[in-house]
Amino acid sequence: VAPDAFTRDPALTVLTLLDSMANLDGYLEKGARQRHLPKASIDLPLVDLARLGSLAASSHNTQPWRFRVGADFIEARPDLGRRCPVVDPDDSHLVKSLGCAAENIAVAAPAFGRRASVLFDTEERVARIELPSVGHAEEPPLYRMIALRQCTRSAYEPRPINPEHLAELKGQVSGEGVEVKWLDCPEILAEVRRLVAEGNRRQLGDRRFRLELLAWIRFSAEGALGSGDGLCGISAGRKTTLPEAAGRLLSPLVVTAGGQVRQDEALLRSTPLLALLAIARDDAAHWFEAGRVYERLALAATAFGIRNAFVNQPIEVRDLRPSLAEAAGLGSLVPTLLLRLGYGDALPASLRRPFESVCEVVG
Ligand SMILES: Cc1cc2nc3c(=O)[nH]c(=O)nc-3n(C[C@H](O)[C@H](O)[C@H](O)COP(=O)(O)O)c2cc1C
Repeated sequence: VAPDAFTRDPALTVLTLLDSMANLDGYLEKGARQRHLPKASIDLPLVDLARLGSLAASSHNTQPWRFRVGADFIEARPDLGRRCPVVDPDDSHLVKSLGCAAENIAVAAPAFGRRASVLFDTEERVARIELPSVGHAEEPPLYRMIALRQCTRSAYEPRPINPEHLAELKGQVSGEGVEVKWLDCPEILAEVRRLVAEGNRRQLGDRRFRLELLAWIRFSAEGALGSGDGLCGISAGRKTTLPEAAGRLLSPLVVTAGGQVRQDEALLRSTPLLALLAIARDDAAHWFEAGRVYERLALAATAFGIRNAFVNQPIEVRDLRPSLAEAAGLGSLVPTLLLRLGYGDALPASLRRPFESVCEVVG
């Protein structure tokens, strides 16, 4: 969402100030409180472990999951009421989001005295994490990163990724049927910028895409606090927000293809490295696995102080995929998630829905 229109117009600036002064602190405080991590103990309830699943990434921050918590398992089930049929007609992003949640649970399990094994039912699209007790609890290395991982949608610092950290990162991320291509060659980065711009123009030029996106944009802290989901500019580093009704009314001015193209061009030019996740087959099993790989990559990158954010436009706009695959030398692999990586300050955490509303305890 282009931020520049907010600050060009004095009337918008006044609206913005009124809104942000009222609610920014509440937003920051809630985001931080939701990222509370319990100390490792075998006495921790599994509901707390499932809650850490809900801190994972999800497309448009839809949080398209419902958790079922048993004595020795957690299920992450799809919430089809949270589908985004325009940007995600095959529910592939939705399934990847379930993979992200499952990975957080698997990573955190040892802090709860559990060993995790993750299964995915491709028919029902349910992730089941079996969690037998191992009798003692210890904090696994990436545990603290679950609270710190975020999509950092800011410009990054003009320096390359530390090569030793990158080598370690490469060793830590793998998944069956998922390959990560690391892209830093200037010609490929230029082609990606072109494809992202083209994707933005196509998406934001499509009325159905705009309507769906607008349904998930929270223009104000108040709006985000009310729903606990969606995309709020505060978490993208904007100090400026609008009252919800004004934002919707003014959306033709503030959510524009031109603004988004300019913004992503600048963000990509600040980015030293891209990671393209590619899958052997474009099906639910591989989408789920790609979600797990993203979450693990993001947790591991966070531990090295490396930030990440998605630029999935050339994947979401299907007929741009072949050009992306060719630029990255994917051969027969299918591109499924595209990330930029770099260094920068943390931004305010995005919000989650009240956990009680997405969790059911059984047995
Ligand atoms: C499958 C998937 C696709 C996503 N696609 C995009 C994207 O194209 N652009 C973007 O800015 N963020 C994208 N996101 C990031 C989400 O918007 C983000 O995870 C969500 O807002 C929650 O914020 P957090 O990751 O900082 O906790 C995607 C996330 C997932 C899991």
